[in-house]
Amino acid sequence: MKEAHRVIAIDGPAASGKSSVARELAQRLGFLYVNSGAMYRAITWHVLQHGVDPDDGARIAQTVESARITCCLENNQSRILIDDVDPTDHLRDDRVNEGVSRVSSVPRVREILVAKMRSYARHHDLVMEGRDIGSFVFPDTAYKFYIDASPEVRLHRRAAQGQRDEIAARDRADSSRRASPLVIAEDAHVIDSSNFTIESVVGEIIGRLKMKGLAI
Ligand code: CDP
Repeated sequence: MKEAHRVIAIDGPAASGKSSVARELAQRLGFLYVNSGAMYRAITWHVLQHGVDPDDGARIAQTVESARITCCLENNQSRILIDDVDPTDHLRDDRVNEGVSRVSSVPRVREILVAKMRSYARHHDLVMEGRDIGSFVFPDTAYKFYIDASPEVRLHRRAAQGQRDEIAARDRADSSRRASPLVIAEDAHVIDSSNFTIESVVGEIIGRLKMKGLAI
């Protein structure tokens, strides 16, 4: 099904720079910015708060089904509330970094969140970042980008954010899971951001979007 609004999909592995690029791009274009990783992180925090083992798929599914997940907008960015609690301050906690790949591999979790992601496109032009946005969530969009960077640069970027985050383990898990793994969509434009600033990557994307005829 073709979405009602324009969607720019930005996928890539951990710490590749896609969040900074996607946020800046959305701001430049006046599109809504949606960080799908933050949605998986919020769910992970919620199930951990409920004492659920991140390897217990059945209980995770049950816990998520009985939660009230509300998506709202603030400053042209999406926010997620779970049972009226805003988990924003906890999304980068060590235990969330550690558990998120396992929780997000549960098919029911993905079903519930993907439906929310698609619903944003009914009312807004979007820049959405994640792992499977071009390959699965919005396969029909003509605007797909895959942002990569060398493993060394990605490690360095995450360490500079002061976080303990096993990004190589997360990439392995995200790429090898059964439910919509991290892949490069066939029609995605790949950008290696290792040696480029955010502004130059955003510039390259905007150039490409214009070439593809997106009216911006
Ligand atoms: O740390 P980074 O910003 O690179 O990751 P993130 O975008 O916050 O995503 C955190 C985790 O959520 C990923 O490692 C995946 O396990 C999961 N995720 C996913 O499965 N599908 C998405 N579309 C986005 C994130």
